[in-house]
Amino acid sequence: MCGIAGYVGRRDAVATAMESLLRLEYRGYDSAGVAYATDRGIEVHRCPGKVRDLIASLEEGINAQAAIAHTRWATHGAPTERNAHPHQDCSNRFAVVHNGIIENHAVLRAQLRERGHTFTSETDTEVAAHLIEERLAPGAAPHDLARVLQSLMEDLNGSFALGVVCRDWPESIVALRHESPLILGRARTGHMLASDLPALIGRAEESWVLEDGDTVVLTPYDVVVTARDGRPRAPGWEPITLDATSAERAGYEHFMLKEIHEAPAAVRETLRGRLDPDGRVVLSELPDAVIERMKWGHVHFVACGTAYHAGLYGQRLFRSCLGRRAEASVASEFRYDEPLVDHDSVVVLISQSGETADTLAAAKEAKRRGATTVAVVNCVGSSLARTADAALMTRAGPEIGVASTKAYTAQITALAALGTTCGCECLSEDLPRLASAVETVLTGEDRIRDLAEALYRQQCFFFLGRGYDAAAAAEAALKLKEISYIHAEAYPAGEMKHGPLALIDASVTVVGICTRSDTHLKMCSNLMEARARDGRVLAVLRDDLPVPEAATDVLTLPSVAEPLMPVVAMTALQLLAYHIARLRGCAIDQPRNLAKSVTVE
Ligand code: F6R
Repeated sequence: MCGIAGYVGRRDAVATAMESLLRLEYRGYDSAGVAYATDRGIEVHRCPGKVRDLIASLEEGINAQAAIAHTRWATHGAPTERNAHPHQDCSNRFAVVHNGIIENHAVLRAQLRERGHTFTSETDTEVAAHLIEERLAPGAAPHDLARVLQSLMEDLNGSFALGVVCRDWPESIVALRHESPLILGRARTGHMLASDLPALIGRAEESWVLEDGDTVVLTPYDVVVTARDGRPRAPGWEPITLDATSAERAGYEHFMLKEIHEAPAAVRETLRGRLDPDGRVVLSELPDAVIERMKWGHVHFVACGTAYHAGLYGQRLFRSCLGRRAEASVASEFRYDEPLVDHDSVVVLISQSGETADTLAAAKEAKRRGATTVAVVNCVGSSLARTADAALMTRAGPEIGVASTKAYTAQITALAALGTTCGCECLSEDLPRLASAVETVLTGEDRIRDLAEALYRQQCFFFLGRGYDAAAAAEAALKLKEISYIHAEAYPAGEMKHGPLALIDASVTVVGICTRSDTHLKMCSNLMEARARDGRVLAVLRDDLPVPEAATDVLTLPSVAEPLMPVVAMTALQLLAYHIARLRGCAIDQPRNLAKSVTVE
């Protein structure tokens, strides 16, 4: 979703902010803009389309010391130049960029209009610029603006990270974090502001994640953070250990392909230090009391999209391996669905970014009802990691492609480790060799590329499975549809004959995920039902199971314990989706209409 990148310091501020902004492109956006303060006043440049179009439209050698740049993912108003950020007040004294949503913007806009303000955009953000204009006295200093931003938290409903430059102080950026992430960077040449760490990697040496309610005044020499209660916050700088390649494609055609190839590393890292030589899993970051409660309490897995599909996996694992009452819910439904959680429940919230608004709202609701919350999350310092009672970090590294791949792999690995800690015995032998099974899948990429050649013109796919394979089917269908725009549906295989079979004909490809022994014959029959209606059938098959008679194509998978097979199967199916999308010429890393880190409900 929207991205903020700001720089103040001795380097060319506009060029530096734009370089950082390019690193936030992965979040998904449809227009971009930049503002900088000079001795002559505020300059704003914006355009619909790509950051590179914006850069091309800028003059070289702009001599500014502070600049804020923004990528906008349209919510209020079309993706036009007028609606792109930064937005200004009536007197062009400020320029404001904003991430999040101001929910009561319509009421505020009407009031501001009555008081004589003129609006030039349809955005919710512009109300913030006009409110600042009303509240900041002439001759005020940057810390006065910080106080004005704090006061906005009383009037604005919703989530907002705001960055402001003001013509009165061309050497400063002032910002506020309120339920939308903001990170600071310290570089040798100055200071940076960003929505996410990739914008800082390779440009700043240290980072500092602001807390909700913090305001900050950044100058080339100083960073002053003030907490919501008005007290100064002591510096919390942490070294940035990730190198630039983690935010670059490193020779791969797309981030998605690079990240699929990083799956073995994601598995190894997620298990590092958590497996003892006897195959026991030790998750020292989770208090014993939490693990105990997971063993006897009611466990809920709550998340969105791909992470929800990891939740379906968790539900299955806790039910079938541990005999626990377990449930998976989509976060946006959980919150408003009178969830049956109480003091005896553990709610496991799964998220790559840790900033997904629906998941954060679900975490709050779970806490309100007295449940213990555990985050399974990839981004260190994210809101979810900090909100939950305990956090189990997945260690997939930065995921830049909008379609989640290695993060899902790491989520399943972490959930398998969690299940093992809670008493699931069937995994401990195979967890240590999971990463090499994934490597074996990657070495078979040529075969997957060939299958993609054969399938990429198809207009409709069904993904079928039973048990864990049904959860993997849901994820496989999501992956294909989001990056190739092919219609894809997932069903538990036995459900096809209750309706969807009516859609099967020669134009449909049915992908049967067959990694489960006890229902394999039933799965074979279900694929036969599709084949009998002329459907093309691709069996994605564990290598020790018999080939289904219905299969027109087969892709074999190395065998590990059944509850770990989704990781192996999904690596193959991520690659299949990737190569199909590539052959169709799709914008793989930034699919249309989608955003990484969905910070609105
Ligand atoms: C799909 C995808 C999304 C995310 C979802 C949740 O490939 O990436 O469905 O999984 O938006 O995001 P996080 O995991 O950041 O909470």
